[in-house]
Amino acid sequence: MKVITTIDEMQETILKDKKIGKSVGFVPTMGFLHEGHLSLIKKARGETDIVVLSIFVNPLQFGPNEDLSSYPRDFERDHKLAENNGVDYIFYPSVEEIYPEPLTVTVKVNARTDVLCGRSRPGHFDGVATVLTKLFNIVQPTKAFFGMKDAQQIAIVEGLVNDFHIPIEIIPIEIVRESDGLAKSSRNVNLLTIERDQAPVLFESLQGAKALIENGEKNPNIVISYIREMILDKTNGNIDYIEIYSYPKLLELTQLEGKIIIALAVKFSKVRLIDNLVLNIQ
Ligand code: PAF
Repeated sequence: MKVITTIDEMQETILKDKKIGKSVGFVPTMGFLHEGHLSLIKKARGETDIVVLSIFVNPLQFGPNEDLSSYPRDFERDHKLAENNGVDYIFYPSVEEIYPEPLTVTVKVNARTDVLCGRSRPGHFDGVATVLTKLFNIVQPTKAFFGMKDAQQIAIVEGLVNDFHIPIEIIPIEIVRESDGLAKSSRNVNLLTIERDQAPVLFESLQGAKALIENGEKNPNIVISYIREMILDKTNGNIDYIEIYSYPKLLELTQLEGKIIIALAVKFSKVRLIDNLVLNIQ
């Protein structure tokens, strides 16, 4: 496994691999790898000849009051995990390498941003789409792998790739969970002990919602109230949002039918957790 820190070397290396017919799988991350990331790497390993993992904490996608400085980082650990899981290249650029000077052009996402995480994080998905446009041009992958934990991100990335004719297949991968149901996240380490004990309620509430829907509930507001009450009752977290939309268009629904996403975000003292469930309702 090789660590590459410059754009030039990454592009040259990948072009050589592609010239001899290798397919390239790309797993973009902000590091502090957990099993969710490893599941993306494993999937890429199974589907493509070369696996590139990028580790870059992208300042452009953090708002002024967000956790950029406290975002967990541990390159040594990430390096070992990447090596043990069959990554070929880690692309690990500095902020100066990616943003040597203010950008003259950025990507602005026009749809699917005023819901879910996008509503409380203005500009976040512009930052994600901008850095991914750069990373896609640097790594030039055949396929890029993203976790369904951030289902809004996947929907937006699919929009980016379609609108700009980027010849990359986006592969969504199921959420990986702890044994108690808590979705894996780099940020989970910032939960207080009591909050960690309460955090599985988020997934339990989604499971309860699924059962309600399977029993015939068609009214999104009733399902949302059910989730809200459970989280208020069983955690100290502050609900940021609980929302239900069509997926992947993220349009409002008056009746629960077709492919839908139930998504939530809950703020604990030092960390905000997100989770979701995508359901196909007949
Ligand atoms: O999901 C993430 O970790 C980031 O949003 C991504 C896709 C690596 C872009 O910085």
